[in-house]
Amino acid sequence: MLVGVGCGDPDVTWGVAAEGSPGAGEQAEVAPPAERSLDPADGFATIAAVLQSPRCMNCHPADPQPLQTDRAVPHAMNISRLSDESGLECGACHQDQNAEQVGVRGGPPGAPHWGLPPASTPMVFQGHSPESLCRQLRDAGRNGGKSLEDLLDHVAHDPLVLWGWAPGGDRSLPPISHAAFVAAVGEWVRAGGACPGDVRASPPPDQP
Ligand code: HEC
Ligand code: HEC
Repeated sequence: MLVGVGCGDPDVTWGVAAEGSPGAGEQAEVAPPAERSLDPADGFATIAAVLQSPRCMNCHPADPQPLQTDRAVPHAMNISRLSDESGLECGACHQDQNAEQVGVRGGPPGAPHWGLPPASTPMVFQGHSPESLCRQLRDAGRNGGKSLEDLLDHVAHDPLVLWGWAPGGDRSLPPISHAAFVAAVGEWVRAGGACPGDVRASPPPDQP
């Protein structure tokens, strides 16, 4: 059994003891964050929040197994890159459109070329800090040979990205609109793909 998260988690203690106890107000005294990143890089936090939202992250998992729901549950029926390679293609169940569009309630969601990123460049979004996600994204060796402009084109037009905002069923949407997301990626591309933690003096990385 792989699923262990939920409201019944016995390790979660609710904040009943905090009131009036010494130190209850301490968290308000947090120092302001250190100024270490380039300004345009701050925009990457917005981009990362989309990439790591369930509709995107479920197909960009850390393991070779896609995820389901908003709780990152491993795909039912032992579906993985391996099941795909051994003949049970994603497209056997996932059509070019959501099941609801052909009248099947609760069936598989769908969009053209449904599948996981290739094993050679798995494009993992799950588990990264915004900084490491940013560095991976701009790295042509890890993003499928894409330039920054190619990435912008991908997020603006790829059918799987567009599906994220029309996912069918009662699936939640990414935190901002598709237009706002494309605008944020456009800003990031114009800033040369700046990442949180980049040293202020260094030029943007070369792109092929
Ligand atoms: C045997 C049928 C079947 C196969 C094969 C299959 N899936 Fe699914 N998949 C489903 C069904 C049914 C659902 C809907 C379940 C649900 O509502 O969460 C689903 C849901 C998903 C979701 C969740 C979408 C979301 O965000 O809610 C992802 C991602 C996914 N599949 C990816 C894949 C990938 C990638 C492959 C191939 C490696 C694949 N599936 C192969 C039946 C299948
Ligand atoms: C059904 C699975 C699936 C879903 C859902 C999905 N992707 Fe992808 N994504 C892929 C595949 C496969 C590739 C690689 C193939 C390609 O480049 O077209 C990819 C590539 C990418 C890339 C380019 C390369 C890189 O390094 O990441 C970006 C950016 C991306 N996806 C963003 C998103 C965003 C944003 C969403 C959600 C709105 C999303 N994806 C949802 C399967 C998916």
